[in-house]
Amino acid sequence: MRQKIVAGNWKMNTDLDSGIALAKAVNDSASSKTTDAIMIIAPPSTHLSEIQKVLTDVKMSTQNCASEEKGAFTGEVSVDMIKSTGAEYVIIGHSERREYFNEDSATLAKKVDLCLSRSLRPIFCIGEVLSERESNEHFNVVFSQLSDGLFHLSEDELKNIVVAYEPVWAIGTGVTASSDQAQEMHAFIRLKIAENYGKEVADSISILYGGSCKPDNAKELFANQDVDGGLIGGASLKAEDFIQIVNAF
Ligand code: 13P
Repeated sequence: MRQKIVAGNWKMNTDLDSGIALAKAVNDSASSKTTDAIMIIAPPSTHLSEIQKVLTDVKMSTQNCASEEKGAFTGEVSVDMIKSTGAEYVIIGHSERREYFNEDSATLAKKVDLCLSRSLRPIFCIGEVLSERESNEHFNVVFSQLSDGLFHLSEDELKNIVVAYEPVWAIGTGVTASSDQAQEMHAFIRLKIAENYGKEVADSISILYGGSCKPDNAKELFANQDVDGGLIGGASLKAEDFIQIVNAF
């Protein structure tokens, strides 16, 4: 069986005190969890080591990592630094990183390799912009991002990846992909993984949906066969909303 996962990407929100308070509230809410879904939060890097101290039932991710191991890269956060905080996951290739920080597929593939070398699990994000969907290019775009970022991996390596399909037009807009649109793309992603790695591997990979996922639409999205959970932005900043999404399974 595939792991169900709901991950909260806090993006550039919360200061240290409010971040710790939110992490505590999310951790407390885990006691009312009605599913076996794994809960993950991805706070800002500055909060990680303090937040780790308050988490017992929730796992921790970062939102990014450096593409180099160490050295003169001012401002970057390395995989060893991340590992030393107790984080287990790293979000890689979020559309905001691709767009605002010009992260290309070669860089993202390096980040994936670095994470795996430290036993950190990448949450690898892919997704098309609106014009690509409107011109019917969305499957090609998603396939390129998937294959360029991940298909150099061995089978054993790929099994440690979590894929997140986040249509860019749905992120922070209040417009969610319909349940059918999400299922269609998730099934496509799984098919492409199966074509390259076999059905057994493809069936073992968790594929999360992200983009305006909220308590009121999570149930419908998660009911799809190939939707194994969510990567949640705005709604992960409220513990009550986040746990409601988790319990939508
Ligand atoms: P929203 O849930 O705010 O649309 O953000 C989704 C996202 O980008 C998660 O990584």
